[in-house]
Amino acid sequence: MPSLLDRTIAGLLPAVPRPIVRRVSSRYIAGEEFTAVVAAARALAARNLRSTMDILGENTDSVEKARPPAAAYLELVNRQVEAGVDRNVSIKLSQLGLTSDRELCLESMRAIVARSASHRGKVRIDMEDSSLTDATLWVFKTLRADYTNVGVVLQAYLHRTLADIAALAPLTPDYRLCKGIYIEPAAVAIQDRAGINANFLRALAAMFDGGSVVGIATHDAALIDGAKRLIAERRLGPDRYEFQMLLGVQEKLRDRLVAEGHPLRVYLPYGREWYAYCMRRLKENPSVAGHVFRAMLGLG
Ligand code: FDA
Repeated sequence: MPSLLDRTIAGLLPAVPRPIVRRVSSRYIAGEEFTAVVAAARALAARNLRSTMDILGENTDSVEKARPPAAAYLELVNRQVEAGVDRNVSIKLSQLGLTSDRELCLESMRAIVARSASHRGKVRIDMEDSSLTDATLWVFKTLRADYTNVGVVLQAYLHRTLADIAALAPLTPDYRLCKGIYIEPAAVAIQDRAGINANFLRALAAMFDGGSVVGIATHDAALIDGAKRLIAERRLGPDRYEFQMLLGVQEKLRDRLVAEGHPLRVYLPYGREWYAYCMRRLKENPSVAGHVFRAMLGLG
C-alpha cells in the first residue's frame, strides 16, 4: 500500500519538471532508439526472457500524424528479424489514428499484421481507456478473421470483460489479460483491488477454458499465485500461457518465475514519446516520493 506521501506526490506528478520525470522513469523505458531496445531484448534473451517491443506514442489526433507511427511499426517488424530478436510488437491503436480515422487505423494494422505474419511474428493490440474498447475490439475481430498472429488485451477491472470473453470465444483469441491502468468511473470499472483481483482470476479461467493462449500481465504476487493454481488445476503446458511484466518492475519476482520454469515476456517500450507512459508507471510505483525527491536533489 503506497504511503500518503507517495499518493500525494503521485497526484502532483504533472507539476514535476519533465527532466526530473525523465530521470526518475528511465528504468521503465528501453531508450529512445532501436539500438537501445535491441540491446535490452538481447540482454533479456540471454536470461531466458521473451520480449515485445512498443514504440511509445498514443492519442494521435490527425490522419497526418497517424501515418509515421504505422510506418515505424512496419519497419520495426523487419528490423526485429534482421536483429534476431523476438518477432513480437505491441501497439496502441490510438497511436495509429483510431479516434481520427478508424478505417485508416485498420488498414495500417492490416499491413503490420500481414508483414508480421510473413515473418512468423506476432502483433498484440494494447487496450486503452474504455471509450476505445469497442473500436479496439472491432479492429481486432476484423483482423482476426484473416490472420491468426494478432492478439488483444482485455482489462480485468472492466465490468464488461467476462461478457467480452464470451462474445469473442468463437475466435479463440490470443489474449493478454491485465488489471487495467486508465482511470474509469464506477459505472464502467470495478474500483476496489479485491474485486479487480477476483475478476482477473475469473477472466483468466474463462480464457483458459475457451482454449485461448493467455499472456498473464501482472506484477501482483497474489494474482500470480492464483494464476499458477489455475494452470496447475488444468494441467496447462507452457504453450498455453506466459507471464508478462513491464520493463523495470518487480525484477526479482520476474526472475523467480523464470527460475521455476514459467515462460515470461517483458514489455519493452522505446522512443521519444515517453511522457504519458512514464507518468502512468510512476503513479503505480509505491515509492514514487523517494525517487522523485532523490532526483530533485540530484541524487537519483
Ligand atoms: P499492482 O498495481 O497491484 O502491482 C503489484 C505490485 O507490483 C505493486 O504492489 C508494486 O509493488 C509493484 N509495481 C507495480 N507497478 C510498479 C511500478 N510502476 N513501479 C514499481 N513497482 C510497481 N494496462 C492497460 O490498461 N492496457 C494495456 O494494454 C496494458 N498492457 C500491459 C502489458 C504488460 C506486459 C503489463 C505487465 C501491464 C500492462 N498494463 C496494461 C498495465 C496493467 O493494467 C496494470 O496497470 C499494471 O500491470 C499494474 O498492475 P499489477 O497487476 O501489476 O498490480
